[in-house]
Amino acid sequence: MCGIVGINSKNEFYVRDAIKRLKRLEYRGYDSFGYAYGSSLYKKTGHIVVPSSDDKTKRIIAHSRWATHGGVTDANAHPHVYENVTLVHNGIIENYQELKDLYLRKGHKFLGETDSEVAAHYFAEKLKEKDMINACSDFIHDIKGEFAILVLVKGDQNIYALRRDSPLVLGVGTDMNFLGSDIYAFSDATNMAIFFENDEFAVVGNDSFQFYDKHGKKISKEVQTFRWEQEESMLQNYDHYMIKEIMEQPKVVKRLLFSLDTEQKEKFHEFTAEMKKAKKIIFVGAGTSYHASLLGVYYLHRCGKAAQTIIASEFEHFIDVDEDSLVIALSQSGETMDVIEALKYAKARGARIASIVNVPYSTVQRMSVISLNILAGQEVCVAATKSFTNQVALMLALAKEFGYKVNMESLPQQIQSVLERSGSVKDMAMGLKDNEHLYVLGRGLSYPVAREIALKIKEISYIHAEGMMGGELKHGTIALIEKGTPVIGLVSGKDNAMLSNLKEVGARGANVITISNEAAGDIRLETSNDGKFGILASIIGQLLAYHIANAKGLPIDKPRNLAKSVTVK
Ligand code: AGP
Ligand code: GLU
Repeated sequence: MCGIVGINSKNEFYVRDAIKRLKRLEYRGYDSFGYAYGSSLYKKTGHIVVPSSDDKTKRIIAHSRWATHGGVTDANAHPHVYENVTLVHNGIIENYQELKDLYLRKGHKFLGETDSEVAAHYFAEKLKEKDMINACSDFIHDIKGEFAILVLVKGDQNIYALRRDSPLVLGVGTDMNFLGSDIYAFSDATNMAIFFENDEFAVVGNDSFQFYDKHGKKISKEVQTFRWEQEESMLQNYDHYMIKEIMEQPKVVKRLLFSLDTEQKEKFHEFTAEMKKAKKIIFVGAGTSYHASLLGVYYLHRCGKAAQTIIASEFEHFIDVDEDSLVIALSQSGETMDVIEALKYAKARGARIASIVNVPYSTVQRMSVISLNILAGQEVCVAATKSFTNQVALMLALAKEFGYKVNMESLPQQIQSVLERSGSVKDMAMGLKDNEHLYVLGRGLSYPVAREIALKIKEISYIHAEGMMGGELKHGTIALIEKGTPVIGLVSGKDNAMLSNLKEVGARGANVITISNEAAGDIRLETSNDGKFGILASIIGQLLAYHIANAKGLPIDKPRNLAKSVTVK
């Protein structure tokens, strides 16, 4: 959560160009923003505004906030300044109150309520006795919690960058170095990056940099080259990134399938070999990625391969792992803190870690002994769409290795046909947009799909949508069904039990909408395969959520209170 950007350049650049980079990270958090360069400091609540001035600078740090401590106010926006120190922070400083009390006793004045402000005071105090290298290693030693921090010190030409748990990456440009929460901050300018590991820091100059370990000892790190499709990060002629990303799905599925047969072929086979070797397979993920993992477990179960999945934040409460376990993380960003914590827990107990991610070299990928890329390309909208589809397509491809029967080649074309029905989904959206509550029911394979559709509707259309098991309805929730309550039923194949559940709600006056590949209904999907039904029905859900939110005039790409990369617990 929160995006940070730093640039240190030999030559001057426009401040507005740097803020455009911050804007690229706005999906990480967007309640307020700020930046500092030279003697200028700007911070404000609301969405990032790129300045129109011709101001230039050689060095800047910038921040887009997702508040954890302290309200959304101008004072709490970053950067925070104290004496000769200016900094931006992503994460949570857990022992901030202790430090704040100490500085208050010394007579320091605080301007806001954030945990982050304390860090500026910390460095200013340290600099009275030692240099920044020692101040940085002291910081790593003294601070409890998570941080990606960029620090400017008056009169010093460097940017100091420190990391624990919150993501941070250095982009190596020509006569210019970039720092960002993720590679998207600079992927248009360089494809060379160095990823910070925990408790490392770096002194970043305009054409050089030096990394240090937590003791302040110099370390050398490898520069990684990454590939990132540029055209996918542009809105082109679409009104929103969400619809653009929905429409890209045939293309990105095709790209994934091709890669599984070419560049990722060997890795894919190693991945399945790991799965075959493991006595226990446990998937882990959050939100949409968890739903994709549930579908994966279903597909594997169908061909007799045992696996389980659990929501990342509950992992340690419900799962036993040991040396015989293979824990497979699913994460678009590869930076979700709940997932990282679950992996740390599993690793400490001897489990092998594998992952399926979208963002290359992300923390989750770097924690894994083996990892596959879903190759969905940049996903800008906070709501996951194409990344979900590619996660599920990869799950299907894995299940196929265990005997699941599915023709993957026709999938892109089938997705295309579903997208061509966007108009009729829009009509359906018009009939649903004014409801406060809505239910989506599924069974078996369509249960995770029901949850995914409901999540999409909640997230961007702000309608309370409950996605649940059709069979569970009569155990309580059916009490909420009254005349006109919308209920979307997902019927894959000859699912008579599901049809009965829909009859039950229909008998109580519900407005039943059926999405099926066999039964008569409102939307008919052209596939006889239940695996592909999962993907196609989810896409109908994506379109539905989009059209409802659009009709309501909501901020589709950046829904309230959310952030794309959830890097706090
Ligand atoms: C999806 O629409 C959501 N934005 C959210 O549930 C997301 O899937 C979740 O935060 C997990 O993110 P990840 O895949 O990057 O780990
Ligand atoms: N904890 C800090 C704050 O509330 C940083 C939050 C973030 O990572 O966006 O300002």
